[in-house]
Amino acid sequence: MIKKNNEILNKFKSDNILIVDFGSQFTQLIARRVREEGVFCQIIPYNKVDEYLLDNQPKAIILSGGPSSVIEIKTPRISEKVIKLEIPILGICYGQQAMVKQLGGEVVSTGKSEFGRAKIKMIKSCSLTKNVWKEGNEYQVWMSHGDSVEKIPEGFYVVAHTAGAAFAVIANENKKQYGVQFHPEVIHTTEGKRLINNFVKNISDCKSSWNMESFSDYKVNLLKKQIGNGKVLCGLSGGIDSSVTAALIDKAVGDQLVCVFVDHGLLRGGEAEEINTIFKERLGSRFIHVNVAEIFLKALHNVSDPEKKRKIIGKKFIEVFELEAKKIGNVKFLAQGTLYPDVIESVSFSGGPSVTIKSHHNVGGLPKKMNLELVEPLRELFKDEVRILGKELGLPDNLIGRHPFPGPGLAIRIPGEISEESISTLQKADSIFIEEIRNANLYDKIWQAFCVLLPVKSVGVMGDARSYDKALVLRAITSVDGMTADVFPFEHSFLNRVSTRIVNEVKGINRVTYDITSKPPGTIEWE
Ligand code: XMP
Repeated sequence: MIKKNNEILNKFKSDNILIVDFGSQFTQLIARRVREEGVFCQIIPYNKVDEYLLDNQPKAIILSGGPSSVIEIKTPRISEKVIKLEIPILGICYGQQAMVKQLGGEVVSTGKSEFGRAKIKMIKSCSLTKNVWKEGNEYQVWMSHGDSVEKIPEGFYVVAHTAGAAFAVIANENKKQYGVQFHPEVIHTTEGKRLINNFVKNISDCKSSWNMESFSDYKVNLLKKQIGNGKVLCGLSGGIDSSVTAALIDKAVGDQLVCVFVDHGLLRGGEAEEINTIFKERLGSRFIHVNVAEIFLKALHNVSDPEKKRKIIGKKFIEVFELEAKKIGNVKFLAQGTLYPDVIESVSFSGGPSVTIKSHHNVGGLPKKMNLELVEPLRELFKDEVRILGKELGLPDNLIGRHPFPGPGLAIRIPGEISEESISTLQKADSIFIEEIRNANLYDKIWQAFCVLLPVKSVGVMGDARSYDKALVLRAITSVDGMTADVFPFEHSFLNRVSTRIVNEVKGINRVTYDITSKPPGTIEWE
């Protein structure tokens, strides 16, 4: 993967920032902030940095935070290669402490932890704070640390401090090395975005050449080379990721592309017909609709574990693709709309790969061995960047604005075992929810909305009779890229209307709830 990314950079000619991951929960947010500056960046686990540097020439380095303590000996360290590079470095939280320690300073556990908002006081300006923070003034930052820097290395001076961190910002202007104890990447650090802008643009002299027009041209050329004369089968779900993937490949190799839409019986009500209409018109005979609902439902029979469901669905998807590829003949590649958050290898507390929250993959977890070679042209992009690319490629607004829908479909919105009956019940409720959202002109204000059918029954009273039916969850969130999410603030009257309609119109549901959990700590989907 590292080599592949390098190819992109050399030919795409974008300045690049290396983000060294020490396992912080905010590492991906750092990447987002850098890209918002129009600069490409890559997240590399701290223990793979040497390998990365063999083929890449980043213009600057950001060291992420992390859950470890530099006071202990066997915790992640910055590669010596990085320190010798003599390019700008910004160390954040653990990244600052690791930098301090490795450059000859001291870090201690003072017992003065700071978590959450803190006031920072500016003492002496530096290039990182230039035109953002004024000497003598106080500003709001967001902290999350137990250890603190006690002695700074030679060449550094103190820029700002907080009550719990005497060296909350330090700078070595000669070497362009900066350390911050707080997290500039989170929105609670009020001017964090501007500090990152200073580091990326002014200190590191990166140009804003990361835009979707040049990315699209570059990718089309790369795809032409990669695919050659072979045929590509693209798994098309009708969602934004696979639609943009198909559009890019179509632009690159035209008739060599065949799109296969798998109706696994776990789609939303009316979705299969809708997708059929949109894509038959665009792709004609290069759009193949396979109905394999029976096969998927049989494979999922009696399965209630969410990870097992995802794995089974992923395997079945590939079986269907391989079968269709055989029928089409001469297919060498399988294309799918995998995005950057799915491929980033983060590091965990212990320095190994991070825990699997869920087997996120476009098709829900790929088997290890496949006969087709993968083509994943969106591997470097975040969701909102894919939408911009979709616009660039001329996809219609209604496709670009569609709420995301996960590859494993309704199977992960019915906790526990699924059945034809529960799928049909969920489809009906979901259609009502989405219809009401559209009627209230809220569809485009919400990032993703859907229903979850719980395997929980409760007692109700309908008319004069007792009911004992399932509970339904409404979920609607706002987000930029699906990595963090807030709950959409519906009016109570709206929720009442949806609840009344669902209980009245959908047999088998007698209770409706609204999920008010943000991400984190929740995830967007329930499974
Ligand atoms: P979570 O539940 O992890 O979801 O907060 C974040 C976003 O990813 C979507 N999602 C998936 N998309 N295949 C996909 O193509 C999957 O296996 C998958 N799982 C979750 C989810 O709908 C949300 O938009």
